[in-house]
Formats: sequence, C-alpha cells, structure tokens
Amino acid sequence: MSTKTQIAGVELHSYIFNASGPKDVTFDELTIIADSHAGGVVIKTCTLEPREGNEEPRYCDVPLGSINSMGLPNLGLKAYIDMVPTLRARTKKPIIASLAGMKPDDFPVLTKAFIDSDVDLIELNFSCPNLKGKPQIGYDFEMTEQLLKDLFALGGTKPIGIKLPPYFDPAHWDAAAAIFKKFPIAFLTCINSVGNTLIIDADTETPLIKPKGGFGGLGGEYIKPVALANVRAFSQMLGDRMAIIGVGGIKTGRDAFEFLLCGADAVQVGTIFMQEGAGCFERIDRELAEILKKKGYKNIAAAKGKLKIL
Ligand code: DHB
Repeated sequence: MSTKTQIAGVELHSYIFNASGPKDVTFDELTIIADSHAGGVVIKTCTLEPREGNEEPRYCDVPLGSINSMGLPNLGLKAYIDMVPTLRARTKKPIIASLAGMKPDDFPVLTKAFIDSDVDLIELNFSCPNLKGKPQIGYDFEMTEQLLKDLFALGGTKPIGIKLPPYFDPAHWDAAAAIFKKFPIAFLTCINSVGNTLIIDADTETPLIKPKGGFGGLGGEYIKPVALANVRAFSQMLGDRMAIIGVGGIKTGRDAFEFLLCGADAVQVGTIFMQEGAGCFERIDRELAEILKKKGYKNIAAAKGKLKIL
C-alpha cells in the first residue's frame, strides 16, 4: 500500500521525510536523503551568511530523545542556491528549503532567492530556540504578522509554509491561527523542538550540552504529546485551508499513524533520523502502510483527521 501524499499540490511518494536539522547541511548529507526512501528532501535552515553554530558539545542523545543547541550551523544562502540544480538533477523528490533571518531584513532576501530557485516548497523557520539573545519569532505574534506581510508581498507562486514552535495554551493557538488566516500560507510544520529545556548528568553534575549554560531544544519521544496537540489544534482550525506537517517524537509507523489521525498531511523525523540513519524512512513508511492495511484504510486521505472522540 502506498502512503503517498500532497503538500500544497506537491506530490510526495511517501508520508515520511526528514525534518530540517539533522544530517542535512552538506551536499553529501542531502544526497543520502535524496537517495533514501524519504518522501522529500529538507535542507538545513539556511541563513544569509555561513555559520559555524554554537560551541560543542551541542547535541546529545538521551533514552527518550535528544537535546540540542546547534545554533544554525549551515553553509549560507549562496552555497544552497548553487546546490539546488545539482540536487534537482539527482532526485525527482520535492526539495524543501528552510530559512531563517538573523535579523528581520534577512527574511525577504532569503525568501526571494528560494522563490526564484528550483525548490518545491519553502519552510520559514520561525522557531529556532538556540540563537543566543534572539527570542523565537513564533512566540512574538506582532513580529510574526509583520514578517508574513513582508514575505507574502514578494509575490510568486512558490508554496510557502511556517515551522512553528510548540504552543501550550488554546489562547495562543487562537491568536496564531487568526494571523495565519490573513495570508496564503501553504503549510504549517508543527512542532519545532521544545526550546530551552535542561538535561543534567547527575554523575558529572553538569548539563549535557555546553551552549547557553546547557539550555537547549528537546526532541524525540518526550515531545510527541505536545506535537500531536499542536497538529490536532491547527488541523481543526486551519486544516481546510493549508496543509499540516507533523513533527516531534515519531519513531515508528504507529507514531506516524497517530499524527495522521490528528490531521497531518505528512510527517518529518529528526531525532530518529539522527539516531538510526536514512533507513528509518523506509522502516517507518512500511510500518505505517501495514497499519493502514490492517485497519482497512485505503490510503492516507482515508485516515486523515479521523481521530475518534470519546
Ligand atoms: C536549530 C535547532 C533546532 O531545534 C531547530 O529546530 C532549528 C535550528 C539549531 O540550533 O541549529
């Protein structure tokens, strides 16, 4: 059974692909994703200039997930724009650019460059939690609205979506949704890592990572319930006008199926791709297909949003 799906009219042969972040910085890493079973290829969040990122150690696996404070290490806009034609020649899969400004004026420059490129989708990263002294844009509704005004004024037909931070209160879902309704947003990616968490090693009496005194973005199993709630809430409010991409703690086909029931059009994986490598895309897809078959759902659309109410 196929798990093919669509985001803003762009076809993905599989429901599962990579989240921006792990193992998607260099051409060699992106080639591995392109050659894998992943439904699409997401490029590491790109900034105007190349960045080394934060000091090491800045990523650590733990039994229920991962913590990171990478600080957006990436090759910079020019390198990725130059890379797109080579990637395009390598794979027919959708290529998804992710971008973030270090200041508001960077966003239109980055967005325009990718609008004019051969990528299929653009994901605006409004939610990196690891930039020292810079709050997550998605928690500042005024700035979110202003940026969306500026970016959608650029025109063009390339589908543009937003990677959101997790929200933890219905008032914030309502406020965010009221803004998103004003723009032709193609998709929402829910959620980025849960920012500014702290994991400590009691043996060494230190945090696991060095930047920001150990505060970093939490990923993996820990955050799945938060991600499911955000997908469900935005799907109920906005699912009729934009696609919803789920991300956060997906390790198995069963996890992916839970996101599907909550209304996700596709899912991304971060921590499990980091831990298991590119084989995870085929495994999770196969597990999801088996569940759909066993339950009698003919395709992704048949199960989407079908969470039953108690
Ligand atoms: C970074 C970390 C994240 O969790 C994220 O979603 C985006 C960027 C980073 O620090 O590079």
